[in-house]
Amino acid sequence: VTGVRVTFKEADGSVRHGEGRVGQSVMELAVALGVAGIEAECGGACSCATCHVHVDEAWWERVGCCGELESDMLEFAPKLAVATSRLSCQIKLREALDGLVVAIAR
Ligand code: FES
Repeated sequence: VTGVRVTFKEADGSVRHGEGRVGQSVMELAVALGVAGIEAECGGACSCATCHVHVDEAWWERVGCCGELESDMLEFAPKLAVATSRLSCQIKLREALDGLVVAIAR
């Protein structure tokens, strides 16, 4: 098994592809790639909402929604939260997510 591939769509329209490992968070992969707009100020503790992403609709069912703490945080997300909003530090990569597409919230 190789890594879990993730595509990040940045707010300016550029696209970055990365490959993470199972158990790593989508946020950690984004930071490693230097994806614009993922500040991850709290370092993955689900308390800053600066790792907010919009999960591609085609992936939403597989990714699923958030825990209670995360949904509370999303209410304070600095950028518009949508129906497929997640905090990327709370999405752990797993094999079923290979090919995942997320957009960075504008
Ligand atoms: S990195 Fe702070 S909430 Fe995700």
